Amino acid sequence: MAQGRSLLQLITDRASKRGLYDTPGYWDMKAESYRGLARSNWPSNTYNAEVHRRQMATLDALLGDVRGLSVADVGCGTGRASLHLAERGAKVTGWDFSAKALEAAAQEASRRGLDVEFRVGDVRRPPTASDLEHFDVVLVLGCLTLACSTQAELEVAVRHVRSLLKPGGRLLVIEPLHSARLTARLLRMGVAPFVRVVERTGLTLIRRRVMFFVPMRYALAFRDLPERWVGRAFTLGERALEALGWPEPLGDYKALLFRAPRER
Ligand SMILES: C[S@@+](CC[C@H](N)C(=O)[O-])C[C@H]1O[C@@H](n2cnc3c(N)ncnc32)[C@H](O)[C@@H]1O
Repeated sequence: MAQGRSLLQLITDRASKRGLYDTPGYWDMKAESYRGLARSNWPSNTYNAEVHRRQMATLDALLGDVRGLSVADVGCGTGRASLHLAERGAKVTGWDFSAKALEAAAQEASRRGLDVEFRVGDVRRPPTASDLEHFDVVLVLGCLTLACSTQAELEVAVRHVRSLLKPGGRLLVIEPLHSARLTARLLRMGVAPFVRVVERTGLTLIRRRVMFFVPMRYALAFRDLPERWVGRAFTLGERALEALGWPEPLGDYKALLFRAPRER
């Protein structure tokens, strides 16, 4: 076992995930009882380190130069993406409904000498008027599939996220989108219906990527295994996905980049 929760607790958490993963109390508990990236992510920090490295490389590849851009990181948790983007020169605001996760994020920002604003906010509630159409980029990384259980809830959250974007702005969603019960978080939805929900708000999908071979999540995410095993397993997993033609259900996270029209 890594730290924080026992294996039995992790299994019970997963069995009763609705009413748990979608509450701030669960994420506050994680922020307080785990260390490092596990405070907002998987129990194993060796798994988290690989996920982080690869996801941040994907952010860089899909967003390009973010210097001077205003970025909203919705469901920022302990702020790993907010801090990464701030280090690259973006003006970042991170939101989350877990006050404890935000405390940890703010501490890390101050330790690294980064100026990032962290605010308590719930993606299921409308943003304040001053945040509307304020951001060049909105990032949602692993939040919507936890905050929403149904298509109706997703539609509301996506409208809120979309309303933050300036005309011509970009929305980057990186989520473990799955339609199967075993692999889905709270939202059980494949990529095509998810893209339809987002495109109905007037955004257009411009790029997409599938990341991580999903069986690896079960093998590696819950126990700290030696770094070299985890690194090798990720590389093998990526090769397996490529060889299989990146089939959707076998890839874990889906990175989807959308653009808003330049005219209102
Ligand atoms: C898996 S963590 C990901 C955190 C961060 N984006 C990252 O990748 O490290 C999911 C985050 O979504 C937040 N979250 C879940 N539901 C939310 C909601 N309704 N409003 C705001 N944040 C929410 C949780 O508090 C948690 O910090």
